[in-house]
Amino acid sequence: MAEKPWDGRFSEKTDKSVEAFTASIAYDRRLYPYDIAGSIAHCRMLAKVGVITDEEANGLVAGLGAIKRELDRGEFAFDDSLEDIHMHIETRLLQVAGKVAQKLHTARSRNDQVALDVRMYLRDETRRSIGLLQTLRAVLVDLAEGHQDVVMPGYTHAQRAQPVLFAHHMMAYYEMFTRDQARFSDCLERINVMPLGSAALAGTTYPIDRHHVAKLLDFPRVSANSMDAVSDRDFAMEFLAAASICMVHLSRLSEEFVLWSTSEFGFVTLPDAFATGSSIMPQKKNPDIPEIVRGKTGRVFGALVALLTLMKNLPMSYNRDMQEDKEPLFDAVDTIKACLSINVQMIPRITVNRETMRKAASVGFLNATDMADYLVSQGLPFRQAHACVGSAVAHALGKGKELDQLTLEELKTFSPLIKADIFDHLTLKAMIDRRQSPGGTATQNVARAIAAAREVLADENRT
Ligand code: ARG
Repeated sequence: MAEKPWDGRFSEKTDKSVEAFTASIAYDRRLYPYDIAGSIAHCRMLAKVGVITDEEANGLVAGLGAIKRELDRGEFAFDDSLEDIHMHIETRLLQVAGKVAQKLHTARSRNDQVALDVRMYLRDETRRSIGLLQTLRAVLVDLAEGHQDVVMPGYTHAQRAQPVLFAHHMMAYYEMFTRDQARFSDCLERINVMPLGSAALAGTTYPIDRHHVAKLLDFPRVSANSMDAVSDRDFAMEFLAAASICMVHLSRLSEEFVLWSTSEFGFVTLPDAFATGSSIMPQKKNPDIPEIVRGKTGRVFGALVALLTLMKNLPMSYNRDMQEDKEPLFDAVDTIKACLSINVQMIPRITVNRETMRKAASVGFLNATDMADYLVSQGLPFRQAHACVGSAVAHALGKGKELDQLTLEELKTFSPLIKADIFDHLTLKAMIDRRQSPGGTATQNVARAIAAAREVLADENRT
C-alpha cells in the first residue's frame, strides 16, 4: 500500500473500501498530458523566481517527460491507493527523478492543479468541437448547393404548409450550427483563464510568477481571485450548456432524417454503409445513426444537469464533491464529438429524392396562401382573400382536386377578381421565387445565402 502525503496526521491507514470509493484515477487519468504540461510549467516558473534551482528544475522536467512517455505507451501502472492522476504522477516522479520530486508540489495544491488540468483539457476539446462544427456547416452548405432546384413541402405543426427549397431547409441548420459554434467560441474565452498559483484556496507565500506560467501554457489571462479559481466550474457548465443546445439541433436534424427516410415520406435515402438491418425482418433498413444521435442527446443534457446540481449548494471554496464533475463532462465531450463527426461523414452520402419531394409539395393546397396573395394583388383585403380561398379549398376538397386543377370558371365563382393569369401564380416555381423577402426561400435568396456562408467559412479558415 502506497504511503499518503497526509500520513503524518493520521493514526490509521486508509481503509481499502475508502480508497476504492474516493479514487478518481479510473477516469481522471485522461488528464495526464495536461497535468504533466502544467507541472513542467510550474517547475520552470519555480526556478525562474528562485524557489528551486535550475538544476532541480531540469531534473523534475526530465522525470516528468519520462513519465509522459510511459503513460503514452500505456506502460504506467495505476493503483487506487494513489487516488488520482496528480498523486500518481508525483509518486512515480519520486522513483524516476529521486528526492527532488519532493519539491514539485511547492506553492501548489491539487485544488488549483485540477482546475488547471480541466481547463486545459476543455480548451482543447472545445477547439475540437468548433472544428467539427465548421466541417458540419461546410457539409450542409455543400448539400444545399448541390440541390438548389429541389422543392419540398415546408411544414408547420407537421402539416404541409408552403413549398420551400430543400436548400433553404438545409441552410436553416447551417444557421443553427453557426450559432452553436459561436457559443463554443464565446465560452472558450472564459475557459482560457489560468488558475494555477491559487494554491489550496488563499494563494501562496512564495514569490511565484503566475503570468510566466500562463505564458508557458498559452493562457491569455490569469484568474483574479484564488477562491473563485479553485471553486467554480462555471466554465464547464457553460460548455455543457452550449453542447446541450448543439445536441438539440443535431437531434432535430436526426429526427428529420429518420422521418424522411421512411416509406411514408421517402424524401431521402440513407447510404447503406450508414444504416443497419434487422436480425429478423429481412426487408428492413434502419436509420440507426440518426436514431442514436437523437438518443444520445439525453446524456449531454444529463451532464449539464449533473454539474448544475453538483455545484448549486457548495460553500466556498474547493469541496471534494467537485471530483464528480469529470465523468459527466468527459462523457458529454465524447458524445458531442462522436455525434458531430458521424454526421459529417453521413450527410454527404445522403441521396435526396427530388421527385418525391416535388410531388409532396404539389399535393395538399400548399398554394392556398399564394392564391390569397393573388387576390390581394387584385385589390382584395387579405382577410377577405383568406376567406375566399378557404371556400375554394373546401370546394376542391369535395371534388378531390387541387386548387390549380379547378377550371377558371369554377375559380371565378369564388371571386370575380380571378383571371386566367392566376394559374401562373400557383406553380411551385412561382411560389418559391416570389418569396424574396430577406431570409425567404426565393431561389436567388438561397443562392446568396449559400455564397455568403461560403465566404464566412473561408474567412474562418483563414484566421
Ligand atoms: N481528484 C480531485 C478532484 O478531482 C483532485 C483535487 C483533490 N483535492 C483535495 N484536496 N482532495 O477534484
